[in-house]
Amino acid sequence: VKEKTEQYEEVDEREKKPNYEQRKWEEEQMSSAVFRFGAKEKEKQQQEYDLIMESQIEFIQALSLPGNKEKTEPEISEAQRKRMTIEETQKSLPIYPFKEDLINAVKEYQILIIEGETGSGKTTQIPQYLHQAGFTDGGKKIGCTQPRRVAAMSVAARVAEEMSIKLGNEVGYSIRFEDCTSERTVIKYMTDGTLHREFLSEPDLNSYNVMIIDEAHERTLHTDILFGLVKDICRYRVDLKLLISSATLDAQKFSQFFDDAPIFRIPGRRFPVDIYYTKAPEADYIDACVVSILQIHATQPLGDILVFLTGQEEIETCQEILQDRVRRLGSRIKELVILPVYSNLPSDMQAKIFHPTPPNARKVVLATNIAETSLTIDNIIYVIDPGFCKQNNFNSRTGMESLVVVPISKASANQRAGRAGRVAAGKCFRLYTVWAYKNELEDNTVPEIQRMNLGNAVLMLKALGINDLVHFDFLDPPPHETLVLALEQLYALGALNHHGELTKLGRRMAEFPLDPMMGKMLLASEKYKCSEEIVSIAAMLSVNSAIFYRPKDKLVHADTARRNFFVVGGDHLVLLNIYKQWSDTDYSTQWCYENFLQYRSLKRARDVREQLVGLMQRVEMDLVSNPTEHVNIRKAITAGYFYHIARLSKGGHYKTVKHNQTVMIHPNSALFEDLPRWVVYHELVFTTKEYMRQITEIESKWLLEVAPHYYKSRELEDSTNVKMPKVMGKTKAELG
Ligand code: CDP
Ligand code: MG
Repeated sequence: VKEKTEQYEEVDEREKKPNYEQRKWEEEQMSSAVFRFGAKEKEKQQQEYDLIMESQIEFIQALSLPGNKEKTEPEISEAQRKRMTIEETQKSLPIYPFKEDLINAVKEYQILIIEGETGSGKTTQIPQYLHQAGFTDGGKKIGCTQPRRVAAMSVAARVAEEMSIKLGNEVGYSIRFEDCTSERTVIKYMTDGTLHREFLSEPDLNSYNVMIIDEAHERTLHTDILFGLVKDICRYRVDLKLLISSATLDAQKFSQFFDDAPIFRIPGRRFPVDIYYTKAPEADYIDACVVSILQIHATQPLGDILVFLTGQEEIETCQEILQDRVRRLGSRIKELVILPVYSNLPSDMQAKIFHPTPPNARKVVLATNIAETSLTIDNIIYVIDPGFCKQNNFNSRTGMESLVVVPISKASANQRAGRAGRVAAGKCFRLYTVWAYKNELEDNTVPEIQRMNLGNAVLMLKALGINDLVHFDFLDPPPHETLVLALEQLYALGALNHHGELTKLGRRMAEFPLDPMMGKMLLASEKYKCSEEIVSIAAMLSVNSAIFYRPKDKLVHADTARRNFFVVGGDHLVLLNIYKQWSDTDYSTQWCYENFLQYRSLKRARDVREQLVGLMQRVEMDLVSNPTEHVNIRKAITAGYFYHIARLSKGGHYKTVKHNQTVMIHPNSALFEDLPRWVVYHELVFTTKEYMRQITEIESKWLLEVAPHYYKSRELEDSTNVKMPKVMGKTKAELG
């Protein structure tokens, strides 16, 4: 057991981050770090910056030191002052001089393409302008879609603040599993996925006067499908105004797609950005980020730093290392305010990135791609770009989806650099070589529709009565194989009949904002009389941030706590066990803390569960509980995820049944030491190897029961279901 434990530790650590620990931070390292500023150049830049920064610092001081102002304007209240600065900000935005022109253009044309640099005020101002111009009269809404949840929430909050109203009244947002709108809401921000779902209940979008498809350049799967849907609607709802808003140069392409709609350009205001490259490739870009941040902080004039990382884990690692080094440097450096931002961050923490930087301090924002175009953080002067992002990829041959870290495109790199030049001349530090930029980066990011599983999208379109998907009006069509595969999968799940029409089951599946496999699992739980248990499992699986908390200094305790939740059968049952125990404590925070569980993740699971239960009632599903019927629970899971089956082969490796691909059990799995012969997995993640995550042991004969169309008994031949001889000594059960 010991040997294995060590191995597990090692795999786990390697996956997370390479060896940062040995590195000792010394002051002189600052000069030997990634970027060297020549003394002369530094002096010149220093002077330039001093000039620019002087005005900026004054501005910041004026904002954050009310005492200074109060002496001269004592009669102005705090609230009034805030309003004034909001008004001033609004008027300073590049879009402001075009307010009247824009309103007139919307009145004149049904469809308008809007192009303007990130930060020009498209997302926050246009809905307000149209609201003021009377487009919400009679209680009709202005909708605005965002590709990301965080953006929808934070932008709605900002607009509510600008209009001095409470979020959720006239201005609200709606994202999956969370609706913050009311009867009074007339400006509604939502994710593109949410609008997609709204089509199901309101196919003509009748409650809207205006629909804005924002951040169109991001080309998410949902946005791409919306293009086809809204274009179609505009033909018979001539009173609906449609705005397609984009930050980059795709406007021409959008215009062509929307029958040559006019393009409204908002001239950008951009300061020059100097771009620096590393001399040699960086082996460890997180460390390179930390070094660069500190070097900028030590040598460069004030101004905030924006760093682009690929995800929550990387951000947290970087934050930890940075905090540690800053602590050790103590008073030798100025104050550095470190702020993370990623989609699962709670909204109060997100809001912090918009607060003004304290005087004489510097803010460093560690962000995912979200800060590339969706969120505008003011006063960024320095950008650090390691050149990677996390991307969803789908292999239509194997039907496998994976989330992988890939190099960004040139278009992305330029967007990122642009973030440094919004308020003053800026600098962008690319942690890759100029050669890599020129030769290794693609020009543009491939739109999601061409690299994602279309199961969910196809189910939605079918539910909208769109049967001929091959001739659907796509801006860029998805690969034919991907479309066919999605249809096949829905057929195997029983959502489509052999004419490709939606079945009764399919219609019910479409009611849930879930992947078709998860939807099927949920609906199958009715038959297996365990819907209470399955809905908890579905909710826990939907929480895509970590459930377990593993602080570096308490790894052993944390892992012991995690093991204490292990039950025979696998990870799905572990999730259920955690949820049940937590609800038995009446959803205690303390209990989470004691058991090294992330309270926020569990709380989110609880919210998601509540939403799902509501939807189950809508499709008239009974909530039935059978907590001890583990076989039934596992069968219901298999009924949804029979595409995700792997069987043990030689050497402790697994092979997927349909495509014979080699996959491994994730080291965090409860089954890591068990090696059952047959498993169903929730997802594959590719890190150093292809890992299955959230795994449950099954019996192969169940596959014939739950998916008779899909599995033939000869494929499941060695289905003895006898476990392989144990590699290690004890089983989970024996370990207790
Ligand atoms: O959509 P676009 O990129 O053109 O700009 P925007 O998102 O409307 O942002 C315009 C301005 O609003 C930014 O420069 C920020 O000053 C401000 N803003 C904010 O303070 N807080 C937010 N959550 C969003 C925007
Ligand atoms: Mg925007």
